[in-house]
Amino acid sequence: MKIDPWASKGIQNYKEICDKFGLDAIDHTKLPNPTHLHRRGIIFAHRDLDNVLQSKKRDRGFGVLSGLMPSGQIHLGHKMVIDQAKWFQDLGGDVTITVADLEAHATRGLSLEKCRKYAIEEYISNYAGMGLDPDKTSIYFQSERPVVQKLGFTLGKKTNLSEMEAIYGFSGETNLAHVQSPLVQAGDIVHPQLEEYGGLRPIVVPVGIDQDPHIRLTRGMVSKTNWFNVNENKSGNVTIGLSIQDNNQNTMGLRDDGGIDKKQRQKVIDKAIVAIRKAGFNETNANPKHGTIEIKDANYGEHNELKYHLLNLERQMGGMGLMQPASTYHQFAVGMTGGKMSSSQPETTMFLNDSMKDIEKKIKSSFSGGKPTVEEHRAKGGNPDVDVAYQYLRYFFEEDDNELERIRNEYISGDLLTGEIKSICVEKATTWMKNHHELKDQNQHLVKEFLK
Ligand code: TRP
Repeated sequence: MKIDPWASKGIQNYKEICDKFGLDAIDHTKLPNPTHLHRRGIIFAHRDLDNVLQSKKRDRGFGVLSGLMPSGQIHLGHKMVIDQAKWFQDLGGDVTITVADLEAHATRGLSLEKCRKYAIEEYISNYAGMGLDPDKTSIYFQSERPVVQKLGFTLGKKTNLSEMEAIYGFSGETNLAHVQSPLVQAGDIVHPQLEEYGGLRPIVVPVGIDQDPHIRLTRGMVSKTNWFNVNENKSGNVTIGLSIQDNNQNTMGLRDDGGIDKKQRQKVIDKAIVAIRKAGFNETNANPKHGTIEIKDANYGEHNELKYHLLNLERQMGGMGLMQPASTYHQFAVGMTGGKMSSSQPETTMFLNDSMKDIEKKIKSSFSGGKPTVEEHRAKGGNPDVDVAYQYLRYFFEEDDNELERIRNEYISGDLLTGEIKSICVEKATTWMKNHHELKDQNQHLVKEFLK
C-alpha cells in the first residue's frame, strides 16, 4: 500500500493506514476544547501530538505549519486545514503558512507571478475571513525564503532515491520536480525551529492523510541529523546514543584516524549528563567508548523531555538541533457527486467563492443516500454514511452534535426525506457562506499583515 500525495485515489481503509504507517489514534476526550472535527472522529490520527501539548503545558510554546498549493480554487477542504491551524492558535501556537509557489511552478507549470497572484486573490484573501490572528500568523512564499531551499539540500543529504522510491513509489520516469519538492517542503516544515523563526519548539502540521508521505520523509531525515539518539533499551529504560556524522565527528570525540579522543569524548558525555539532569533524571551509566549513556530512572514515555534538552545541547555544540515535526490527520469529505472531491471538477466540491445559487444547485443535485421513492424511503429510511447533504452537515455546517444526531436518526428512520435533508443543508451552507463572504470582505486589510 502506497499513498501518492499528488494523486491520491481516495482512502478506503483509515485503520489499515494507521497500522501500516504507525499513526496514533486521537482520543478527543483528552484534548482541550475539541472542535466538531475532533469530536466526530474526522481528525482521527496523529504523530507526536503529545509533544506539542506537553510543550504548551510547560510554557515553551509550539508552532503550527501549513502550506497551500497556489493552483485551482480554494474549497471547503482547504478551509478545514485553516480551522485546525486556528484551533492550535487559540491554544497558544504561532502559525506559519507556506505558499508552495516553487512546487506549483515545478509540478503544475505555473509562472511564479501567476502563483503569487493566485495565492493572494484566491487563498489568502479568503484566509482573512477565517479568524487567524495576524499578530501570530505569517504567510510566506517558498521562492522568497531561501533558507527553506537550503534546508531542503541539507536534509536531502539524509535520504536517497531508494527511500524516495519506497515512500512515494517513484520510478525511472518520475519527473525530478517530484523529487525536489518534498525536500523543499521538508525545509518548510522544519524552518520555524530555526533561531530567527522562533527557535526550538515542536511544530505541528495538520494535514489530510494523503500528505503523510511528506511527514514520514521529513521525520526520517530530521532524526538522522540529530546528534543524540534517544532509544528505549531492553530493560525498558532509555539509552542515549551519540550519533557520529561527517560534520560532528571531532566534536563527538572521534579522531580523523578513526580512534577515540578520550578527553573530548568524556567532555561530550559530561555535557550530555548535564542535559539529562535538566530533564529531571540522575541515574546515568555512561560507556564513553561506545558513546552511550543508559538512564536508569527514565522510561521511554519521557523521551520528549530528554530530547528537548539534548537538542538544546546539540545547538550549543554547533548542530542544527531539529525536532521531528508532529502532525494530525483528517479524513476527507466525499465529493458532492459521491466520488472524490476534485478542484478540477467544480461539481464535486464547494468553492469558497461560490454564489448562493451555485451552492443550492450543487447540494440539490448531490449524491443522495435516500431511497428512490418516498414510500420506500419512509419504510426503509436513508443511509447518512453516503449521503452528501448529511456528510456536509457533519463535516462543515452543523456544529451542534445533538442537532446532527437528530438529523441522522430521523434520516435513518425515514422521517426525514431526501429533499428535506438537502434543504437543511442548503439553508445551513448558504448561511455559513454568506457569513464567510462578509467576514472576508471586512478583513481584506489583514492580507498585508499576514504577509509581513
Ligand atoms: N504539498 C502541499 C500541497 O500539495 C503544499 C505544501 C507545501 C505544504 N509545503 C507544505 C503542506 C508544508 C503542508 C506543509 O498542497
